[in-house]
Amino acid sequence: MTGLPDILERGARSVDETLEELLPKASGPEGRFHEAMRYAVFNGGKRLRPVLATLSAAVFGVTGIRALRTAAAVEMIHCYSLIHDDLPALDNDDLRRGRPTCHRAFDEATAILAGDGLQSLAFEVLADPATHDDAEVRIGLVGALAHASGCIGMIAGQAIDMAAEHITLDAPAIRRLQALKTGGLFVFSARAGAILAKADEAAMIAFGRDLGTAFQITDDILDVEGDQEALGKATGKDAGAGKATLVEALGLEAARRKAVELSERAIDALENFGEAADGLRDMARFAVHRRV
Ligand code: IPE
Ligand code: IPE
Ligand code: MG
Ligand code: MG
Ligand code: MG
Repeated sequence: MTGLPDILERGARSVDETLEELLPKASGPEGRFHEAMRYAVFNGGKRLRPVLATLSAAVFGVTGIRALRTAAAVEMIHCYSLIHDDLPALDNDDLRRGRPTCHRAFDEATAILAGDGLQSLAFEVLADPATHDDAEVRIGLVGALAHASGCIGMIAGQAIDMAAEHITLDAPAIRRLQALKTGGLFVFSARAGAILAKADEAAMIAFGRDLGTAFQITDDILDVEGDQEALGKATGKDAGAGKATLVEALGLEAARRKAVELSERAIDALENFGEAADGLRDMARFAVHRRV
């Protein structure tokens, strides 16, 4: 994808190689389902969450396969969430990452199953000793990803997002919705390095929470003023669908200010980390100044 900083481009390549190894090759009567899983993963995503996980790991001195498998797991959850988010019963979108959405390219049943398959594969990868030889670390990763993506995390956020099409949320309630539906996976990615290294996670959790919310506010802004071709997905849909966004509640300028404020606060959370955390700081800036 063009317009991405170098650090994302380079990181995305190693993540893609790992995903390539981990996803099943399409064969047999289940081949079409495996093909749909691959279709939803290898389609030009920015790989922000997995690259964040590898940057976090590097801050704590963790590199190589441990970082990459953890990164691949969070991207699998993200891709599953996008497949389901695009379904007719949810956001009903036809375009994702510049291509037909999974249910459009295949069919609804296959898309639902592809999402399910990616979700369980993510946890299988984390639970595998190849990710870390210390079982306590593996359980930490599995628990943290389940918490981030589950029924009091991302899915709770998606449930509020759907409910909000029929009820009005005030700005703090919208921030909570964003922290749940999007912040959770950013928190997981940010704390992943600390979990892998058995280090203190507090600063990384604070960083991830603000980064994720800033990222979602920017997604909502881009829905209003972004370029559909660059984004690879339909724009101008949130208002018509009655989505609860800060743009809707506060207006574009106030939403933009909030996103920048959160991005700056995320960077402040890294004050005790030196140059090793510069990649994380760049990512916090990219999250709010991006056009893709
Ligand atoms: C889109 O996330 C969904 C949101 C949480 C806003 P991204 O903008 O990171 O999507 P990809 O992975 O690059 O396609
Ligand atoms: C998606 O939010 C959040 C998820 C958990 C998938 P959106 O519905 O705003 O994401 P896009 O705009 O479709 O990428
Ligand atoms: Mg949605
Ligand atoms: Mg959507
Ligand atoms: Mg959106």
